[in-house]
Amino acid sequence: MSKNWFVAAALAVVFLVVAACGGGDTPAPAQDDNASAQAGKELFTSLGCVACHIAGGAGGAVGPSLDGLFGTQRELASGETVTADRSYIEESIRSPAAKVTKGFTEGTMLSSFGELSGDQMHQLIDFIESLK
Ligand code: HEC
Repeated sequence: MSKNWFVAAALAVVFLVVAACGGGDTPAPAQDDNASAQAGKELFTSLGCVACHIAGGAGGAVGPSLDGLFGTQRELASGETVTADRSYIEESIRSPAAKVTKGFTEGTMLSSFGELSGDQMHQLIDFIESLK
């Protein structure tokens, strides 16, 4: 009985380690995107983005709402218009002052997110892309 329990626990640990390392299997791309967007959602909360941005109907109003942002045209304080694609969103996170959204003040968004890893950035952008 206790031996079986040990074997089950050991198997569970092996399974978790394999899952955490990505294992050898290739999940369907759609699932991958969902998992990535979900990880991005957690980052969005843990990094404090949610204090300033509405995402999924909840969040702060210091910055622009990110609901429905992806793929739309954004007016900038400079008068230019840009498409909110992945590269614009990445730049907005890494260097918020590079392109300031119209109606908002440069310097309000902390510029401390420039050090996010490529993976974290990818997950955050997948999350923002998933916001309708
Ligand atoms: C202290 C408040 C604050 C925090 C924290 C913050 N932002 Fe911002 N964010 C802003 C403001 C204000 C703007 C608009 C001014 C600008 O573009 O710099 C902005 C702009 C943006 C834009 C461009 C939006 C648009 O409409 O064009 C994106 C994308 C963005 N933030 C994502 C994030 C993410 C992701 C995080 C967390 C890693 C984050 N922000 C954290 C305040 C904040």
